Amino acid sequence: MIEDSRPLALICGSGASILLPDMEHQESVEVTTPYGETSAPISICRLHGLTVCVLNRHGEGHTIPPHRINYRSNIWALAELGCKSAIGLATVGGIRADLISGSLMLPTQIIDYTWGRESTFFDGGSETIVGHLENANPYCNALRDLILLAANGSDIPLHDGGTYAATQGPRFETAAEIDRIERDGGDVVGMTGMPETALAAEKEICYASINLIVNPAAGRGDKEITVDEMREAWESGCENLRLLIKKSILELANCGTRSLPLNSHIMKM
Ligand code: HPA
Repeated sequence: MIEDSRPLALICGSGASILLPDMEHQESVEVTTPYGETSAPISICRLHGLTVCVLNRHGEGHTIPPHRINYRSNIWALAELGCKSAIGLATVGGIRADLISGSLMLPTQIIDYTWGRESTFFDGGSETIVGHLENANPYCNALRDLILLAANGSDIPLHDGGTYAATQGPRFETAAEIDRIERDGGDVVGMTGMPETALAAEKEICYASINLIVNPAAGRGDKEITVDEMREAWESGCENLRLLIKKSILELANCGTRSLPLNSHIMKM
C-alpha cells in the first residue's frame, strides 16, 4: 500500500498523460493481480499534496484496443494501491446537439452495449460470496460535485450531466446504431466506459468520468469521421481538460478523498 491513505486514480485514455508534466513523478509500479497484467505500469505522482496513481488504459504506445483492455486487473491494481476515488478520462463522439467537438461533459448515466468483456469481480467460485452491485447511479455524486465545483470556480466550460453509451468497438458505430442509442437516451458514445465504471463501484472506489467530445457521432456530422478531426478536437479541448483535472485534484486535496461517500452499494446474498 502507498503510505498516503487517500490516493486518487487517474485512468487516462486516448491522448493520455497530458497531466504528467504537471505532476511530480515519484515512481512507476507494476502490481501483480489475480486477473493478469494491468494495461501499463502505474505512475505514482504527487500534486497539491495528493498522491495520484496514473494509469494509461490503452497501454504504453496505445497498443490495447478497448475490447482487449483488462479492466479487472486495472481496477484491482488501483484498489490494491489504496485508491478510494478515481477519475476516468475518455474521448467520445457527441450525439446530443449541444455536445460539440472540443467540449467537456460530466456524465450522470451509462448504458452498456459491450459484450464478451470480463465485467465483474463477483464471478462466483467457492471462496466468493455472490454480490450484486446496486447501480442505479453509476457515477459517484460526491466526486462529480467536486469536479463541478472545480469547473465553476475556474470558469471551465463543462456540460453537467448526460448519458454515456459504451459500445464494443473497435469499429465506430453505424448511423443507424447511433439513432438507436439516441432513442435509448444516449448523449455521447465511447468504447471504454464499461466495465470500468461498474468494476470501480464493485471495489467501492468513488468513480467519476470526464468526457472530451472529439467528433460528432456517426451520421451526425456532415462528413465521415477522421483521425485528423479527432486530433484537432482533442487539441482544442485538452487545455480545458488539463486545467479541470488539476483544479479537481486541488478540490479533492482540500476535502480529503477518504471522506467521499459512495452512491452504489453491494448487496450480498
Ligand atoms: N464512437 C465510439 N467511440 C468513440 C467515438 C465515437 O464516435 N469517438 C471517440 N471515441
